[in-house]
Amino acid sequence: MSGAVEIRDATDDDVAAITAVYNHVIDESDAIWIDDPLPEADRRAWLARQRAAGMPTLVAEVDGTVVGYSACFAFRDKPGYWPTVEHTILLGPGARGRGIGQRLLDALVDRAVALGKQVMVAGCDGGNEGAIRFHERNGFRRVAEMPAVGRKRGHPVDLVLLQRELDGPSR
Ligand SMILES: CC(C)(COP(=O)(O)OP(=O)(O)OC[C@H]1O[C@@H](n2cnc3c(N)ncnc32)[C@H](O)[C@@H]1OP(=O)(O)O)[C@@H](O)C(=O)NCCC(=O)NCCS
Repeated sequence: MSGAVEIRDATDDDVAAITAVYNHVIDESDAIWIDDPLPEADRRAWLARQRAAGMPTLVAEVDGTVVGYSACFAFRDKPGYWPTVEHTILLGPGARGRGIGQRLLDALVDRAVALGKQVMVAGCDGGNEGAIRFHERNGFRRVAEMPAVGRKRGHPVDLVLLQRELDGPSR
């Protein structure tokens, strides 16, 4: 993988690649608290919901291949949470450590600001130290740690919440 990175809106043609990245992360780590891979239909329906809600889903494409994606969505469903979005960023294994996560985050922040959002929240598995550091380097501060609020393949997992004010410093 050596070419230029293009960040663009996801389309239905990207669902297979999005599903492959998602299922890889489900399989290899505790980053997503789902035990087994999901079918493409699940991610297709999710992408349609993102679109219907007016929420951005971005993909990173290198040499014609989608290697990762980012998305933001409502943090919680009560109307009073309107200033806040939660987000996700997932890269396939060969795409990490090359600044692509940064590009996906920066573009997503631009979209969230354009939507009038003021706060972005990352919910990380407590053991995902690399992702926590990635967010801290990008202006997110750790605001909550919730021990054993989830299970992954039967074992307890901790949630670390980080937030960034979108009008504040990015790094
Ligand atoms: C977290 C993630 C989005 C960061 O994007 P990135 O472009 O790799 O960002 P960085 O280069 O700053 O690397 C972030 C961390 O990922 C890990 N990482 C970097 N390159 C890696 C590689 N080639 N293989 C495995 N992990 C790697 C490191 O722990 C690194 O942190 P460190 O440099 O402080 O040690 C990306 O690594 C990823 O998709 N990881 C798997 C899914 C995930 O955990 N998503 C976040 C859920 S909250």
